[in-house]
Amino acid sequence: MKQQPHTVVLAYSGGLDTSVLLKQYILAGVRVIAMTLDLGESDGVAGGGAKAELDAVRQKALDLGAADAVLIDARERYIAEHATLALHANALYEGVYPLSAALSRPLIAALLVETAHKYGADSVAHGCTGKGNDQVRIELAVRALDPDLACLAPLRDKPLSRPDAMDFAKQHGVPVSTTAAKPYSIDANLWGRSIEAGILEDPWNAPPEEAYAWTAAPADRPRTAEEIVISFNNGIPTFQGKTGVALVSALNTVTGRHGIGRIDLVEDRVVGVKSREVYECPASITLITAHKALERLVLSRDELRFKAGLDQKYSELIYDGLWPSGLRTALDAFNAAFFPRMTGEIRLSLHDGKATVVGSRSPFSLYSEALATYGREDAFRHDAAEGFIRIWGLPLEVGARINREAQPR
Ligand code: ARG
Repeated sequence: MKQQPHTVVLAYSGGLDTSVLLKQYILAGVRVIAMTLDLGESDGVAGGGAKAELDAVRQKALDLGAADAVLIDARERYIAEHATLALHANALYEGVYPLSAALSRPLIAALLVETAHKYGADSVAHGCTGKGNDQVRIELAVRALDPDLACLAPLRDKPLSRPDAMDFAKQHGVPVSTTAAKPYSIDANLWGRSIEAGILEDPWNAPPEEAYAWTAAPADRPRTAEEIVISFNNGIPTFQGKTGVALVSALNTVTGRHGIGRIDLVEDRVVGVKSREVYECPASITLITAHKALERLVLSRDELRFKAGLDQKYSELIYDGLWPSGLRTALDAFNAAFFPRMTGEIRLSLHDGKATVVGSRSPFSLYSEALATYGREDAFRHDAAEGFIRIWGLPLEVGARINREAQPR
């Protein structure tokens, strides 16, 4: 441990690593406040039971000697202040990953800072290693919120091997779950579940079916397609009359049954290495698909093209830990400018791993059947196209003539 904190708020999952950290701090005489969050980690798992599990995590921290342990239900805040903004930016890192893990880190950081202020702590700490993206995201967000608060990463300073962690746990009465070591590293919240390490580290290995928990295997999916409608009101989605957490949760269940949202990606980490990550993001992928379809209906060609570039930038800011940047909030303002037109309904057909848009309508639709039709009611001025093409192609024509004349014979 670098500096000796007086009071530290520790982001506590209840797992082996953060339990060992908690105990180490206590043995070193540090006052520890354990902070555990509910971000909907078990949302996609049938049966749920999250509340009881999280209460047990909080109790475990107290039993290990934490001065206090807080359990915060951050789900609504996560969806309202993070996931919904990402949806408005159609945020997909490297074109495919809805950034579920990345989006949650600035909120974890904000809650660490808020909890630290409440308890008069001088430090916050997390269990990220020195190789991943999450350390970057948490630390940048903590610094942006309170530059005077120390943000500690004990596992980066002193990596802990699993056997050493087990030995320490045995020695100091840290309860260790008796189940075999988990074959993957898992991170999950309402916006998606990510699975890495183990057999997946060789990008040639296909993800085994057991890696997935939220999406049905091909053999277990309904044979027939199911249609759903997602409505948007000023950019805010509704499904089956639900919004916010209830919407995302219901959508995870409905679309997960059809195996929607599986992603297998060799991605580029902030720290410069490529890593292979598998995700299952049924609700977020479906929502982004629907949101894009509504944009296609109500935004002009120019707006769509320009926004696509900004959307990509937005996804990079989230991934790279720059959520607290002024550029991100400026892009939020840009996206909000479309809200007055972002009202309408999208019909999707769910089948065998894919959510396909099969219908869209909006009072602000720019689609004109009279202009688009090839039928008798066609209102498009065909004769006007000739003059348009003449002028539109003028620079090409001029260039071609000049080139021909300048050519040595
Ligand atoms: N690679 C993803 C990201 O950086 C997910 C990392 C989540 N962690 C995990 N243990 N699966 O956003």
